[in-house]
Amino acid sequence: MRETVVVLDFGGQYNQLIARRVRDAHVYAELLPYNTGIEKIKDKKPIGIILTGGPKSIYEEGALRCDDGIFELGVPVLGICYGSYLVADYVGGEVMRAPSGEYGKARTVYETENMLFSGVGKDAVSWMSHADYIGSIPDGNTVIAKTEACPVAAFFNEGKRLYGVQFHPEVRHTQDGQKILENFLYKICGAKGDWTMKNYAKEAVDEIRGKVGDKKVLLALSGGVDSSVCAVLLHKAIGKNLTCVFVDTGLMRKHEPEEVEMVFREQFNMNLVHVKAEQRFLDKLQDVSEPEKKRKIIGEEFIRVFEDEAKKIGKVNFLAQGTIYPDVVESGVGDAALIKSHHNVGGLPDHVDFDDIIEPLRELFKDEVRELGEEIGLPRHMVWRQPFPGPGLAIRIIGAITKPKLDLLRDVDFIFRDEIAKAKLDEQIWQYFAVLTDMRSVGVMGDERTYDYTVALRGVTSIDAMTADWARIPYETLEAVSNRIINEVPHINRIVYDITSKPPATIEWE
Ligand code: XMP
Repeated sequence: MRETVVVLDFGGQYNQLIARRVRDAHVYAELLPYNTGIEKIKDKKPIGIILTGGPKSIYEEGALRCDDGIFELGVPVLGICYGSYLVADYVGGEVMRAPSGEYGKARTVYETENMLFSGVGKDAVSWMSHADYIGSIPDGNTVIAKTEACPVAAFFNEGKRLYGVQFHPEVRHTQDGQKILENFLYKICGAKGDWTMKNYAKEAVDEIRGKVGDKKVLLALSGGVDSSVCAVLLHKAIGKNLTCVFVDTGLMRKHEPEEVEMVFREQFNMNLVHVKAEQRFLDKLQDVSEPEKKRKIIGEEFIRVFEDEAKKIGKVNFLAQGTIYPDVVESGVGDAALIKSHHNVGGLPDHVDFDDIIEPLRELFKDEVRELGEEIGLPRHMVWRQPFPGPGLAIRIIGAITKPKLDLLRDVDFIFRDEIAKAKLDEQIWQYFAVLTDMRSVGVMGDERTYDYTVALRGVTSIDAMTADWARIPYETLEAVSNRIINEVPHINRIVYDITSKPPATIEWE
């Protein structure tokens, strides 16, 4: 059984981050809804339980509560922020509105004799974000940290092995925050720390072999990080029993189809079906300008092409998907996973004859997928590639899509990516790409008047694409890009750089 820490989710903004930090410390963390039943929690045989923060007050009507049975399991519990109020309340402490809330960095004095704070600076900065606080805690509990505004910034109950911290150890601004989490995991819960991508790769390969045996698996391979890692992992497990279908929509970036061929057919020697479907997509998209319509058409056509190929292959037993943890994690509080549902191209094909779905990345966060990719030998540039939308360049051409416009945008985008790579900015900027606007303006080239298209360059920094800021690309790099585009690509006479963050804009223009 895998060594597991259960993280109960009360809807705070850092909940997935807590699980990620625990996994960074090589312990598998599973995020479960706050109201998960005690039997289900017991089945996981957790070595520890963490209660996350949340937006409510515990004394409000409808406050979120977990099953109090978790405090009696004899398993160490660490409550963070809202979670610490639940622990405090359980042991008879008093939780109330604080005379003054604390938001941001706070000087914190730790009792470093306590195992939770062993090796931590005695007087350091922690990250706070709270309006309530623990006013008092009864005998039998020990206060182990204080701030100016918080008489009980951390406490523990030795008999029941319960801990509460008001601050957020998972946030980088808490000095020694990772050390505090590691103390909880290793010194208090007695973790062994066997969660590594090397171990996971072995486990996953065995599991896939056990499940698939000699049967056939089909995977839609886009060349993006998730489907690529999925392909390599499955191939490692079942070799030629995996068939990857790569649909070239004609909406991809320059050299992308060749790269997929090179890596998956040449390097890994996989069964690869390369479907050249450009014309099908162009026909369907003819004269379509409305962004949502473009997305819908592309999503549907993708499924149709995939189905047609699947039919040629005949019966397959499993359909593989590169679903990752943030797509499936269920909070029980509001459904964060639904926010980007319109982004998922396609869905499941209706007319492919398969018995079951296989999702070998379902338990992994994006950083873990990348680490796994490196572990199993996917080339570095594929592991670290920037996100690329399913509808591809279609949503980066404003207005109707034509083949000449696609070719032109491919050339412009290639120059931009090339210069960013030369400036060694490619791993710092979340996404960087060109957009072909449908605006033309007057220019002069040589002695000639021109009336040509405007290209917009977009570069953003982000941690999860939910919010983003425009990247401060050095002027020299922008200048080099601009010169090359004008000199190498016809019909562009003006280049602008997008300086809007998200919100109010989105990352893509459509
Ligand atoms: P927006 O434009 O909404 O994009 O700020 C957020 C992130 O999602 C990507 N994106 C997509 N990904 N299918 C995808 O797989 C899509 O239809 C799609 N639309 C946007 C976008 O590139 C950014 O990373």
